[in-house]
Amino acid sequence: MAGLATQRAFGDPAVSDIGATALFPAALFAAAGPHARSTWRRPPTRGHDRDMSHEPTNLTDALASFDQLWSPRIVTTVNDYDVRIAKVAGEHVWHAHDDTDEFFLVLDGDLRIALREPDGERTVTLSRGSVFVVPRGVEHKPSSEHGASLLLFEPTGTSSVGNRHDGIPGHVDATTGHELPERSAPGA
Ligand code: NI
Repeated sequence: MAGLATQRAFGDPAVSDIGATALFPAALFAAAGPHARSTWRRPPTRGHDRDMSHEPTNLTDALASFDQLWSPRIVTTVNDYDVRIAKVAGEHVWHAHDDTDEFFLVLDGDLRIALREPDGERTVTLSRGSVFVVPRGVEHKPSSEHGASLLLFEPTGTSSVGNRHDGIPGHVDATTGHELPERSAPGA
């Protein structure tokens, strides 16, 4: 008998009206007005459409386009993140990014990252092809005895020396990343 009761309920005009009102609250759409739909558009971002090329970027060519060490170049953006590349050799500076993790991919050479963790200090060694994430807030100091090329992934605007750091030596560029030089002259 429960089945019959259900059928009657759905067949009852009064019940159907209540259901339609709940599922399609036309009054709410009408109140929102003709421009309501615009609020659903993707908001403008600092992301890929900002000023980046929509052509492929060859990382080997990009790395060959500059020589400065510890001075990241922005190769592209993903949502609110930069993909940066850097050439490094020698020591960077102790620093921490309190608001973001920092992703490292070693494209060539070897990179060491000293870390000051709650349990003490340790150093990780990343060979070519290795990835590592320094968690937010962890003081770290990258170094490379013989030189390395890196790819970094971090929020746009992130400083290369974090928001806390030791004194910045002259060979370290404190930057939020530079544009690649060939970006303004594709194919040149
Ligand atoms: Ni860092």
